Amino acid sequence: MQVTNTQALNEKIWPHGAYRDSDGVVRIGELRATDLVKEFGSPVFVMDENDFRLRAHNWRVAFEEAFGVGNVSVFYAGKAFLSVEVAKWIAQESLGLDVCTDGELAIALAGSFPPERIAFHGNNKSEVEIRQAITAGVHLIVVDSFFELERVAREALTAGIVQKVLIRVTPGVDAHTHEFIATAHEDVKFGFSISTGAAAEAARLVIASEHLELYGLHSHIGSQIFDTEGFEIAAHRVIGLLGAIKSEHGIELQSLDLGGGYGIAYVEEDDPLSPDAIAQSLFEIVKRECDTQGLAIPHISIEPGRAIVGPSTVTLYTVGTVKTVELDGGKARSYVSVDGGMSDNIRTALYGAEYTAVLANRFSKVAPTLSRVVGKHCESGDIVVRDVELPGDVTPGDLIATPATGAYGRSMASNYNHVTRPPVVALRAGQARLIVRRETHEDLLRLEVTEG
Ligand code: LLP
Repeated sequence: MQVTNTQALNEKIWPHGAYRDSDGVVRIGELRATDLVKEFGSPVFVMDENDFRLRAHNWRVAFEEAFGVGNVSVFYAGKAFLSVEVAKWIAQESLGLDVCTDGELAIALAGSFPPERIAFHGNNKSEVEIRQAITAGVHLIVVDSFFELERVAREALTAGIVQKVLIRVTPGVDAHTHEFIATAHEDVKFGFSISTGAAAEAARLVIASEHLELYGLHSHIGSQIFDTEGFEIAAHRVIGLLGAIKSEHGIELQSLDLGGGYGIAYVEEDDPLSPDAIAQSLFEIVKRECDTQGLAIPHISIEPGRAIVGPSTVTLYTVGTVKTVELDGGKARSYVSVDGGMSDNIRTALYGAEYTAVLANRFSKVAPTLSRVVGKHCESGDIVVRDVELPGDVTPGDLIATPATGAYGRSMASNYNHVTRPPVVALRAGQARLIVRRETHEDLLRLEVTEG
């Protein structure tokens, strides 16, 4: 790699080894943003496969070192981003996979992902989904309600099997994150409450069922979490329930799934903990709580999604228009409109998420100016990056790169305004290959049903 006159990009936010070339062009996985857009069009998600694999590997190894090989499973949360290729990478990196719909299951199976390493989540799985999961032979179904408990038992009976399940519990934790991505307080649609006794009742029913095996408990407290405080409270309550189940039934459950939600850096100020630090700290928390309850440490699982795929991916957009508006106090803001927007990244509009962006096709000597990167949708909330300093001479045809868009970008993409969803390009060993192609108008029209 040429080092002179190049500028490293912050590894916390960008894929490992991304930098700006001596002419200012952003290089990801050694490939130039300008060439990628020439070949695959714009906008485009570019994903550094090595970065993705390395993070998957690091999460697995960190937890295996803390808990011991064989005592822990790392499930990649497919909702963050799943494609057939990604399912193969996850399998090759020896992780498990968490799916939460029949669609995610279909993609996983199309990637030949081993069903015995799949856990099926979701607060409203249909009978059809449960049947598909059982037929496919998924390892675990995470039961979320009394209705579902009956459904899973019925489908297992029909299939003539005993299905391993986890009970999803809500430990009543207020995770310090956006309301829409916090999941473990009481007033939420997910899971069985510990405090009302619903979780203990669910355990009774599963233990009594001939077609279900109570494998363990599951708790997910929310997403984009930066400290282990919430996990500590959750572990205290969930392991407390493991203790209560042992007292009542004389059974020590084998497994405890602590969910995902580990935060990543979207902007410079974000300071996420490393997988090693999280693993170590969760081990200490779990050990302490299990000691208190007189339990052996169960098999532990975690389900990171964002922390594996988020930083691996950069979105490249092309600028279409630029306009400057006067703000109070004599300031100005530049609106930089790009060729995507809330249809490929809804997170800014939905959660007030923060991102950063850079000019990706050249250097500029013009002073930076307060800018807002906005999309092409008919909506003023269609913002990709709310506040960012970009050179004052950004102009139509320039490329803008927004890093850390791998999680919940393409996976939450929509066809709003009948915009076609961008492709995903994987970069490896200096080569780029399409892993999800761009949608076309034919794709949109394929769904239309007309009378003649
Ligand atoms: N496990 C369960 C049961 C979950 O519900 C989730 C996320 C995860 C694992 C993975 O969480 P992660 O490690 O990726 O943070 N769309 C939102 C986040 C909602 C995610 C819902 N469940 C976002 O864009 O931030």
